Amino acid sequence: MESLLQWPSLLLIALGVFSFTFLLNALRRRGKALLPPGPRGLPILGNLHMLGDLPHRNLQKLAQKYGPIMYMNLGLVPTVVVSTPQAGIQFLRTHDSVFATRPITEFGKYLFYDRKGLGFSEYGPYWRNARKFCTFELLSNTKIDSFKSMRKEEMALFVRTLKETHDVADLSAKVAQLIVDMSCRMLFGQKYMDESLDERGFKAVVDETMNLAGAFNVADYIPFVGQLDLQGLGKRMKKLSKVYNDFFEKIIDDHLRTKVKGPPRDFVDAMLAFMESKDREFQFDRNCIKGILLDMLIGAVDTAAATTEWVLSELLRNPRVMKNVRDELARVVGMDRMVEESDLGNLDYLDMALKESMRLHPVAPLLVPRESMENITIEGYHIPKKSRVIINAWAISRDSTAWPNPEEFNPERFIGNNADMRGSDCLFLPFGAGRRGCPGISLGLLVVRLVVSQLMHCFSWELPDGVKPNELDMSEKFSLVVPRANHLKAIPSYRLLKDV
Ligand code: HEM
Repeated sequence: MESLLQWPSLLLIALGVFSFTFLLNALRRRGKALLPPGPRGLPILGNLHMLGDLPHRNLQKLAQKYGPIMYMNLGLVPTVVVSTPQAGIQFLRTHDSVFATRPITEFGKYLFYDRKGLGFSEYGPYWRNARKFCTFELLSNTKIDSFKSMRKEEMALFVRTLKETHDVADLSAKVAQLIVDMSCRMLFGQKYMDESLDERGFKAVVDETMNLAGAFNVADYIPFVGQLDLQGLGKRMKKLSKVYNDFFEKIIDDHLRTKVKGPPRDFVDAMLAFMESKDREFQFDRNCIKGILLDMLIGAVDTAAATTEWVLSELLRNPRVMKNVRDELARVVGMDRMVEESDLGNLDYLDMALKESMRLHPVAPLLVPRESMENITIEGYHIPKKSRVIINAWAISRDSTAWPNPEEFNPERFIGNNADMRGSDCLFLPFGAGRRGCPGISLGLLVVRLVVSQLMHCFSWELPDGVKPNELDMSEKFSLVVPRANHLKAIPSYRLLKDV
């Protein structure tokens, strides 16, 4: 009797298990089918071998075949690549909060004391507070304005030195040095001899940092081979982290030794005061100071230097546009003085030329990678939690539906087009967008505008060795920030009516 009574319940249980398994399999099948399309990969390596020397270009080609939201495996890491403005809006605007964190990488671990900086740190209270602090103490309009006279002094020195050059000038090197000097004065309160950081000089060390930041490090993608450090990147990162650590330790000690009562003298003082204050709401120690200093240094130097280098290259390559820029400068500024920061708001044509150059050459073509913090469905595709998300800003700003004749350098396309540099509509993304968009945009733009306008206003330029404008080499070198592969060189002749 007892066993007979059990039959229905057993049947029910069996039916339940069967339905559950069926449902689970159906869901799995659905989940699989809903992943975005993408190329087949190799075992273990996945699609890593498809990135090549210029990953932004190769990923664009793959996206043309597989679509604007593309799925691939980089080693063992599920990765989603986003390649059009419409798809960009979904990831950087509509669902920005889901993609606001950065993946854990060896670079963040070694260079940033386990992600104690800003750009490579995890989304959460530490990142939020550190970002607020940097914005308030360094990147707000008031702070930027407080360094105006320093910039004026450095610009005048730069123009005077260039005026003495009667031969070919290495514009890439000279502009980089100017930006290093301005950044050091703003961050540390003084300029440093180039070899103070390392015998290679500041710019070379920052370049090495960007190379390591942008490298597809096998250790990040196939963790079990990480220990072997097959590409030697781990070794280079450890060496580099010691270079920065020694330099920042010395700067912090110098600041503590020469401390004075009163308001902070510079950004380091402001961070030290914050570290010592009792009422701070978040953990902030010496490693945080060093991590943030590194973020501000690399954030300010390579990005602005590469952006300036590309704008100057496009102007030299396009004499018609260069003439328009210079005519505007002559009209707005006049020929008897240098450009002042207060002139910049009146240089509309220069601004369009700058935007057009940043559209064609977003210096961080893949931005800084993000990671999804939860499972999410976008445009009908399943994006699994912990996917690496690569925004191909380079492909987005060449999307032919948004930008007719995308390869053409044509500043006039911005007349009546209010696509903005903050990426509000994701049409172009020179500074990224959303929560992780660049906090240094105002400072970065100011420096680029100032340097480009000054060089165009104070000098006429000629390419060396009889190179014609349309023959100028425009090849790129990939890293987190993509500069010219070869330095830009040109011959200046001073053209103002008065000496500076
Ligand atoms: C022309 C100059 C600059 C360009 C083109 C530029 C570009 C960018 C880009 C594309 C990103 C990634 C955004 C994203 O993932 O959505 C970024 C992030 C960042 N930039 Fe800039 N940048 C410039 C200047 C600066 C300056 C002057 C600073 C600071 C002194 C700075 C500090 C940072 C930091 C800290 C981040 C990481 C933000 C975060 O993850 O929360 N940048 N920048």
